[in-house]
Amino acid sequence: MNRPQDVENRVECDEPSSSASRAKYYSGFYPMHLGLLSVATNLFPVAWWTPISKDPFRFLVAVDRKNHSLKLLREHGEAALHFFSYADRERVVRAGYLSGRKHNKAARLGFDLVPATRLETTQIVNGADAVFEMTVREELQREDGDHAPFVLDVVHVHRRRRPATGQPLLFLGYRDFATLGERTRFRP
Ligand SMILES: Cc1cc2nc3c(=O)[nH]c(=O)nc-3n(C[C@H](O)[C@H](O)[C@H](O)COP(=O)(O)O)c2cc1C
Repeated sequence: MNRPQDVENRVECDEPSSSASRAKYYSGFYPMHLGLLSVATNLFPVAWWTPISKDPFRFLVAVDRKNHSLKLLREHGEAALHFFSYADRERVVRAGYLSGRKHNKAARLGFDLVPATRLETTQIVNGADAVFEMTVREELQREDGDHAPFVLDVVHVHRRRRPATGQPLLFLGYRDFATLGERTRFRP
């Protein structure tokens, strides 16, 4: 019988699957800092985002092709990336289990939408530690992969506090979440 660590080791050693050059998906890159993306008046949690340039300031966000927000992002060409603290985890995560196709998530989950500073049709949510207003620069690989990668220019930043100094909401994969425990400063 497999002990848990045997199963873990077997997964670690997974061989490439269908093609000789591509490995099977493995979620061993988590944790990720969980964001909340608003597009127009819809919202959804995003773990698959990353900064890709400081000057000009740019992010990349990967949007599942099944999400209603993909259509909105293509139509509106703008979005706002929010970082809420661990205390807000319930409503931030729940927004990922509802679709804007059927629900007004902001009203249902108690998110207070307010006008953005630079965006025309996208609203931002009150109470986040930091909010990055962005316009779509480019959608990469329109037909390839199950997520559509978008390059976005940051056009305005709202800073309440740095998430790293408080209790950021971290996604561990599956349905698991955490915040920071120990911390250290590296002194080279
Ligand atoms: C913790 C968590 C992280 C997620 N990360 C992403 C992500 O990075 N990209 C994405 O497209 N969807 C992600 N999702 C899924 C969407 O949030 C989910 O499909 C949502 O219901 C889409 O809403 P919409 O149909 O209103 O666009 C995530 C969901 C959860 C719970």
